Amino acid sequence: MIDYKTFHVVDHPLIKHKLSIMREKETGSKDFRQMLSEIAMLMCYELTRDLPVVDIEIETPIAKMTAQQIGGKKLAIVPILRAGLGMVEGILTLVPVAKVGHIGLYRDPKTHEPVTYYCKLPADIQDRYVIVCDPMLATGGSASDAIRMLKNKGVTQIKLLCLVAAPEGVERLQKDHPEVEIFTAALDERLNENAYIVPGLGDAGDRLFGTK
Ligand code: PRP
Ligand code: URA
Repeated sequence: MIDYKTFHVVDHPLIKHKLSIMREKETGSKDFRQMLSEIAMLMCYELTRDLPVVDIEIETPIAKMTAQQIGGKKLAIVPILRAGLGMVEGILTLVPVAKVGHIGLYRDPKTHEPVTYYCKLPADIQDRYVIVCDPMLATGGSASDAIRMLKNKGVTQIKLLCLVAAPEGVERLQKDHPEVEIFTAALDERLNENAYIVPGLGDAGDRLFGTK
């Protein structure tokens, strides 16, 4: 059972429209990349809604005033390679000073279990509020492993930004990391026998980089 307290489907006509373009099998890499980046930016707006703000004293050309700026921990973005890379630019458009770490995982084609091949994170990652991004949450194995790696480095505040989620993946993630909030553009029906999301959008990495 999905716990909707920590699972959010970001419901917006622009996101729906752009996601439909991405799902369409005739859409090429150029448009796929552009839509993914734009959706990531729109979803980042929603995901960062509860960032704390602090009062600061400023002076406009007219008068002094108390204004607000973002306070608390600094941000880091951690895309899961490869497909998560397609979300980084969109997020950086809204939070340009965020640092970017990378976690490389691929799914073993037979077992569908994630295999780690790369991890490079900002040195102060444990002091940051981390947005993990990956467009596909299928079995949930990749996102769960990436989040475990971050927790092992001392990270305590993590949110997951994806695009299309399967119920199986959401349940797995909520079981492994119940405190991590998940933001997605769509919750699809199920996984098929190859652990691909149905209806989904196919292989996100291949479509993004044109490798098939
Ligand atoms: C895809 C996707 C996720 C993972 C999701 O990556 O980008 O990382 O599968 O599946 P899961 O929830 O079952 O773990 P893939 O393994 O195809 O690697 P790639 O991005 O390098 O193509
Ligand atoms: N990875 C993808 O890229 N797509 C899926 O549907 C499942 C895993």
